[in-house]
Amino acid sequence: MSVSEQDAELGGVAAGQRAREEELVELVTASFRNTEDPRLKQLMQALTRHLHAFLREVRLTEDEWQRAIAFLTETGHRTDDRRQEFILLSDVLGASMQTIAINNEASGDATEATVFGPFFVAGSPEIEAGGDIAGGAAGEPCWVEGTVIDTEGTPVPGALIEVWEADADGFYDVQYSDDRTAARGHLFSDSGGGYRFWALTPTPYPIPHDGPVGQLLAATGRSPMRASHLHFMVSAAGKRTLVTHIFVRGDELLDRDAVFGVKESLVMDFEREAAGTAPPDGRDLGGRTWSRVRFDIVLAPAGA
Ligand SMILES: [Fe+2]
Repeated sequence: MSVSEQDAELGGVAAGQRAREEELVELVTASFRNTEDPRLKQLMQALTRHLHAFLREVRLTEDEWQRAIAFLTETGHRTDDRRQEFILLSDVLGASMQTIAINNEASGDATEATVFGPFFVAGSPEIEAGGDIAGGAAGEPCWVEGTVIDTEGTPVPGALIEVWEADADGFYDVQYSDDRTAARGHLFSDSGGGYRFWALTPTPYPIPHDGPVGQLLAATGRSPMRASHLHFMVSAAGKRTLVTHIFVRGDELLDRDAVFGVKESLVMDFEREAAGTAPPDGRDLGGRTWSRVRFDIVLAPAGA
């Protein structure tokens, strides 16, 4: 690169000024040279280079620096054990999805991963095969069934299947102030790898947008809406833990999901059933409409 091209890249920054800026980058990078942990050293030195490249490229003003600090401070203040504003921020910047892409290289026909999201809660209720995760949450019943297999096609019995979703009003249980547990649960695949349970037909919902991340989306003309989905986390001995969702084919939000989580392979056919149609387990649905979906899960080997 010629000197004039470098000047153009840095918006015509004078040579002396550029040298001062580069000297600082070198100084900060070198300050990490004695880091004992080689991975931490790599992370901090690369972070320094990329952060300074960003600051220098945009010629960050002091006012903008103040606003960035205020934004991150508010993001921290909004985060507690029920609200994870930092995960939201990572999600809307695509950083969550990029990390997943880097760490979940395609492995045979293994089911693809997508964002974890901020609403998982450990220790959800266990439900029996064919049980209902709704726990009183509002929504249309949805019969979910499938088989857990490995990439060789062998059924995986005893896989832990954790599921969670928003209710028909677009809220997860943890977003209510009454400590309810609803629309989440866990079960295990049977001896043939099969599983089945009742959930709610997924509906679109906005990510929480009353905080700093919501302000960021509004200021940049972006929607907070997520395409309808049902979250899964599936784990089994010797298998890579799968964190994913299934999406509803036909949902108009599939191509503009706020957190970039949609993958074509995860879009499923949710069949709508008329009121009065008998469900597979003969459950009395009180004359309501319902839906059904089949989701066969393929787990990659651990370390794949
Ligand atoms: Fe979600």
